[in-house]
Amino acid sequence: MNKTLITLLKTAVASATFAAVGAQAQLVGDINAGLARAAMCIGCHGIPDYRNSFPQIHRVPMISGQSEQYILAALQAYQKGERRHPTMRGIAGGLTEQDMANLAAFYAQHNGNVQAPETPPRAPNAVVAALLDRGACISCHGANFSSPTDPSWPKIGGQHADYLFVSLKSYWVEGNDVIGRSNPMMRSIVSQFTLQELRLMANYIATVPGELATVPQGGLRR
Ligand code: HEC
Ligand code: HEC
Repeated sequence: MNKTLITLLKTAVASATFAAVGAQAQLVGDINAGLARAAMCIGCHGIPDYRNSFPQIHRVPMISGQSEQYILAALQAYQKGERRHPTMRGIAGGLTEQDMANLAAFYAQHNGNVQAPETPPRAPNAVVAALLDRGACISCHGANFSSPTDPSWPKIGGQHADYLFVSLKSYWVEGNDVIGRSNPMMRSIVSQFTLQELRLMANYIATVPGELATVPQGGLRR
């Protein structure tokens, strides 16, 4: 992707993020309140390899160890309908802003002590390397796809391959009430690739050890 376009995308988002942070300066997440609320989430996000069947069968994303600001941004996007997955829209629709901040604070630190290893990941083959370069993925998602340049952007290293593929595909979809995501940055990025190319990148990114986990919560207080 052309460097100027990437810079423009990043600047547009950085100013939008700044405005959003300013508007919510008072919202501080409470980890214990998040733990109590997480009883609503563990039936899917607390079960290793739990699968969802819409719009196609895929594992639900790992959210433990994900960045706090990104979890909050994702929940807000489901609530507003910018992300249209019906299950998560229903769930986010029942949460207050404070609930979402609490859940984000809880899940960000609830990582089961998973840490990305020091050793560098297996390098992509030449085809995948060229795709990742074309999409400038590292310039936003960071080293090992796990240290995003902006904390409200996702860590994706080691995320489930089938989820990565479904999420990439969802940025393609427009004008559908129940499938799709509206994020303009990722939309312009995925539009440069074929489905097969998205799948190749998803499969590789899933092999890069990251900081995400599914941490079952049996035994914790609800
Ligand atoms: C019935 C199963 C189910 C339950 C319960 C559930 N989720 Fe989800 N969650 C999903 C699925 C499926 C997705 C992927 C949706 C998509 O494709 O956009 C998802 C996506 C997410 C994402 C976006 C992750 C990412 O990487 O972008 C977050 C954050 C999230 N859920 C948080 C929660 C929280 C917090 C709760 C509890 C309040 C919860 N979920 C309850 C199934 C569930
Ligand atoms: C200009 C910055 C930028 C670039 C370049 C970029 N991304 Fe993203 N990416 C984002 C942002 C911001 C989001 C969150 C969008 C949202 O809220 O739905 C995201 C979301 C994603 C998601 C969904 C993650 C999840 O947990 O649901 C995947 C997968 C992804 N990007 C992969 C890629 C790949 C692969 C590339 C390169 C081909 C790439 N991204 C390039 C900024 C970027």
